[in-house]
Amino acid sequence: MPATLPLTGQQTLARERLIVALDMPSADKAREIVDELSGEVFAFKIGLQLFTAEGPAFVSELVDRGEKIFLDLKFHDIPNTTAMAAVSAARLGVWMMNFHAAAGREALETARFAVEEVCSSETLERPLLIGVTLLTSSGEKHLKELGSDGTAEEFVLRMANVVASAGLDGVVASAREAAAIRSAMGDDFVVVTPGIRPEGGTIGDQKRVMTFRDALDSGATYAVVGRPITAEKDRRAALAALTA
Ligand code: C5P
Repeated sequence: MPATLPLTGQQTLARERLIVALDMPSADKAREIVDELSGEVFAFKIGLQLFTAEGPAFVSELVDRGEKIFLDLKFHDIPNTTAMAAVSAARLGVWMMNFHAAAGREALETARFAVEEVCSSETLERPLLIGVTLLTSSGEKHLKELGSDGTAEEFVLRMANVVASAGLDGVVASAREAAAIRSAMGDDFVVVTPGIRPEGGTIGDQKRVMTFRDALDSGATYAVVGRPITAEKDRRAALAALTA
């Protein structure tokens, strides 16, 4: 048998476009998932739960293992604090990090300048810098509470423009808005879509969901998947089913 079998279309898609969310309480639990799925998916996402429990040491551990890490800490603070947090994240060697677009153009731009500077002076690879437009768990009711009367899509496009005007690389948004973002922002803009669910799967706390294939067809560059894979007993089977 040849050492490397040709990839099927679905394996290629997962290896090039799927990011697994390590929303786990401990490094031990997250390590189990990485051991199981390393090489089968494009990157792993470390978010607030795992980072708060295990800190930067676990990020470094996975970076040292050669994993691509999306550090999903959604920085949102005054420009200087946002920028300094971003510099610390860049020094960890993450592949991608994000900010809340609502932090505003000045904070996002200050962060970008600071990251570019540290990466050039310390010869680091510049991570992708992404803005969160609107959480996929939020809908128009939530926007109304915030005093915004438009549709989710209008809000998301407004935020995408803020992100682009600050020179960031792209956005996190629901796959439902991916097509509109793609056509408004062009081919080079990175669109990361969480809220991915298998056909007929449990939605949980997400609201604006889509299947993996439909998200990519709608213009997503990368799709983030958490519980539909990580909460399953047979994660490899869940991955295969999700990307079929
Ligand atoms: O388990 P599930 O697939 O719903 O996980 C989605 C992941 O994407 C979570 O880690 C969540 O924090 C993250 N996320 C999101 N919506 C955004 C940004 C990030 O659901 N707009």
